[in-house]
Amino acid sequence: MDNPSHIEGVLNSLAYSLFARSGLAGAAAEVGNLVVFDHPDAVDRIAKAPALFRKNFSLISALGFSRFNTNDEEWATRRAITQDRYLAAAKPAHKQGVSEIFSARLAGCETSLAGIQQALFTGAMDVFYRAFGLVAEAPPTAALLDRVRDVLRRLQYFSWVTPTNDERNSAIDDARAIIADFGSQLMADPRAAAEMARFAEKAGDIDGFSPIEEFVMNLFAGVETTVTTVLWVIDRLGANQKVQERIHDEVAGAKAETPFTDCFINETMRYFPPIPFLTREVSNDTILDGRALRAGQLIMLSVVGVHQHPEFWADPRTFDASRKEFIDNSYDRRAFIPFLTGPRMCGGARLGRLEVEQAVRAVVRQFAFARTDDIIRFDYALALRPASGMSVTVSRR
Ligand code: HEM
Repeated sequence: MDNPSHIEGVLNSLAYSLFARSGLAGAAAEVGNLVVFDHPDAVDRIAKAPALFRKNFSLISALGFSRFNTNDEEWATRRAITQDRYLAAAKPAHKQGVSEIFSARLAGCETSLAGIQQALFTGAMDVFYRAFGLVAEAPPTAALLDRVRDVLRRLQYFSWVTPTNDERNSAIDDARAIIADFGSQLMADPRAAAEMARFAEKAGDIDGFSPIEEFVMNLFAGVETTVTTVLWVIDRLGANQKVQERIHDEVAGAKAETPFTDCFINETMRYFPPIPFLTREVSNDTILDGRALRAGQLIMLSVVGVHQHPEFWADPRTFDASRKEFIDNSYDRRAFIPFLTGPRMCGGARLGRLEVEQAVRAVVRQFAFARTDDIIRFDYALALRPASGMSVTVSRR
């Protein structure tokens, strides 16, 4: 059964069930047949032992291989192809440039949530391509990313609900077609083709290396999560007018420091981590947090659960715009991991943070939001985003 609304329903209930269990001590034991870890200490230990708790090659590999879904030396070689670019792009000297990209995209967009979402997407794509000295062709690249999201949602679903052969083959065929179309688009631009040649050269002797697969998975990982975070900020601003005005005044003011805005962004990422959970495969029999794990077993790390762990957060299930742990900078680092931690943490964490900060400033300067209700609805497809039909109204300032 691979009709889109059924797939969305199954994935959303998975994410809802993790939310429902969070914030209650010892509540997260299993989802389906997966053992769930949500204690910050246990998750920290798993994240810091990537040889024992490995990335697994689920169906998502139909979209190809990249630093995202490989391990060991191959992963290290792949990481080296892009990591310097992300670190260079995140230097403070680029703050102004990132701010200008988002401000310009938002200034030219339609005054609607869909218009803002599109402007954020193209802005994040601009920043990503620029990190490699490239220029994105906005509409066709955005259309390709929509196809990536759709196929990833199906592949993700099939890792929970066994597909028929036809369903499986059709998802794999679609994934291959997207990579081929991305390849034609990139190779038509001589600068992008030269960058893909650099990727291939740095990959050395990795068997079957495809620079396009590496690029596409990195692009999706970077753009989807960044945009999602800003959409959640908008969602929460709409729900609280007083907080929204306070944040507007802070970003419109002359001071470089914006502690209330920074706290609000952190609280949004605590409450709605764009990647709400991760899976890992155990490579050797071991015991963790009193639980015996077998080699080959899949486990789940609940980022949502870590972010709402009652031993680490006061009143964890309340969205608190001035959360004390963030204002005082007193939170335990193991309990706030929107970018994960350890060697396999987000490669674009610094760049992502810089983008979110600058995009939120640009959004808040240009727009005001209101909501007709405060019901939280989300839509899960690898990243957890607010449901597109959410009841936020938009006006220009
Ligand atoms: C707010 C924005 C972002 C969030 C919340 C986020 C979150 C994450 C998380 C949780 C992971 C670990 C996934 C796993 O272990 O399965 C990850 C990995 C990754 N992210 Fe991000 N990310 C963000 C932005 C970005 C950006 C801007 C880029 C690139 C420009 C990027 C590139 C990557 C890459 C390449 C990996 C794989 C790292 C590796 O294993 O080598 N991310 N991200």
